This record gives sequence, C-alpha cells and structure tokens, in this order.
Amino acid sequence: MRKLILAISALALATTAAFADVIADRKAVMKENGKQVGVLVKMVQGEADFDAEAVKAALTALNDSVQLIDVAASFPPGSDTGDTTASPKIWEDPAGFQAQVDKFKEVTAAAAAAPAQDLEALKPQLGSIGQSCQSCHEAFRVKKG
Ligand code: HEC
Repeated sequence: MRKLILAISALALATTAAFADVIADRKAVMKENGKQVGVLVKMVQGEADFDAEAVKAALTALNDSVQLIDVAASFPPGSDTGDTTASPKIWEDPAGFQAQVDKFKEVTAAAAAAPAQDLEALKPQLGSIGQSCQSCHEAFRVKKG
C-alpha cells in the first residue's frame, strides 16, 4: 500500500513539474497585463496625469499580449495542479473559457484600435477592460490559501 501511495505521489509530482513552465508562463502574461492596466488605473485615479501616448502604448502592449493567448498551449489538461490559481472549471467548461478569451481579445483589440484621447474617454475604456478581467477571474480562477 505504501509503495502504491509513493508511486501515485511521484506521478502527481511529475505532472506538477511537467506543467510548471506552462503555468509560470501564463502567470507572467497575466502579470504583464496587470502592469499595462496599472498604467491606466493610475491616470483614472488621478495618481498620474493623462498622457495619450502612454495610453496608446499600454493598450497596444496589452492587446499584443492578449492576442497571443492560446488556450490549448497555455491551459493544457492537467495544468490545474501545482502553483496555480486556475480553476478546474477551465477544463470542465472549455467552451465557456474560450468564450471569455475571445471576448477579452475583442475588448482589447477595440481599445487598442481607438485609444482614449482624454480622461473622460479613458474611464469607460478601462471599465470595459476591467470587466473582462473580473468576469473571467470570477468564473475561472480560484482563490488559494
Ligand atoms: C479569459 C480569462 C481571463 C481574463 C480575461 C483575464 N484573466 Fe487574469 N487570470 C486568469 C487565470 C485562469 C489566472 C490563473 C493563472 C494561473 O495561476 O495559472 C489568472 C491570473 C491572473 C493574475 C495572477 C498571476 C500570478 O502571478 O499568479 C493576474 C495579476 C491577472 N490574472 C491579471 C489580469 C488582468 C489585469 C486582466 C485584465 C486585463 C486579466 N487578468 C484577465 C484568467 C483570465
């Protein structure tokens, strides 16, 4: 019995290690998204002056990285274990997750194509981006201890 348990846990650890890079990569993409959005948040909150060039640069960088999200490559089955907050729902409802990714791509593409020219326009633009982040996180991310 002990041997069996050891064998199973070795397998489990091997799986975790196999996906460690995939998980680290997708988290790095998310962190980068967070960084670009942070530039916009600072302007909306009045911590930084509105800067049309900086808005355009942030939205372009955000969209460039979002368009590269590939569900099959970044969320392979089995990569819900390990150092990740990805929810098992991603694999239970792949169509739902793909729909969130597609929507996210649409939202960031539209924003990058027409970056806000003033603070009043930036607020709803940031709002719709933030809503995409939030709705996907609520549905497909788990909070871990
Ligand atoms: C299509 C779904 C989806 C969208 C849209 C999305 N995220 Fe995420 N995000 C995830 C998932 C899934 C994880 C968990 C990844 C993991 O831990 O493996 C995550 C994790 C993160 C993390 C934590 C990364 C880490 O190091 O643990 C940050 C920060 C983040 N997202 C920011 C954002 C921001 C900002 C946006 C919007 C601009 C956004 N996300 C949009 C699905 C999404």
